[in-house]
Amino acid sequence: MSINQLVYVSQATRKMSQEDLNEIQRIAKNNNQLIDVTGSLFYNGGWFLQVLEGPLETLNALYKKIEKDPRHRNSRILYNEPAKFRTFTRWSMNMTNLDDRQADKYDQLVEVIDAAKTDRKIGAASPAVTLLRIFKE
Ligand SMILES: Cc1cc2nc3c(=O)[nH]c(=O)nc-3n(C[C@H](O)[C@H](O)[C@H](O)COP(=O)(O)O)c2cc1C
Repeated sequence: MSINQLVYVSQATRKMSQEDLNEIQRIAKNNNQLIDVTGSLFYNGGWFLQVLEGPLETLNALYKKIEKDPRHRNSRILYNEPAKFRTFTRWSMNMTNLDDRQADKYDQLVEVIDAAKTDRKIGAASPAVTLLRIFKE
């Protein structure tokens, strides 16, 4: 079945604790598993960046629901394109709290979120394309 990849960036409405993030991930994993969605959620300095992968109609409906979640606002889609393969095959929803990680290892990811926040490119590539590339390798 053909799939799409959707990437958005949004602002948390309050500072998220690790427990808050765990709770989002728990619900997301349970739901996404049932609807054939995989992906990854990154949190850094009050911003979310999420990749969702799955059938187009499913993703559009899921995004509509997520967008309304009061835990974040100003959600902006950076990328919504068909893909031959999933990038996050193993994860119904992975979670990376970049506030918690050693900066050197996660520098690239922080740069992606930074670029997404300010609607900037990284070299010639959009932040979403750069992100998907990091995980394809
Ligand atoms: C940043 C963020 C990412 C989320 N990602 C997902 C997700 O991938 N899948 C999902 O089902 N819910 C996700 N949620 C939670 C949904 O917004 C919603 O609360 C949840 O799906 C429960 O919906 P329900 O009460 O209709 O079952 C996310 C919420 C936030 C704030």
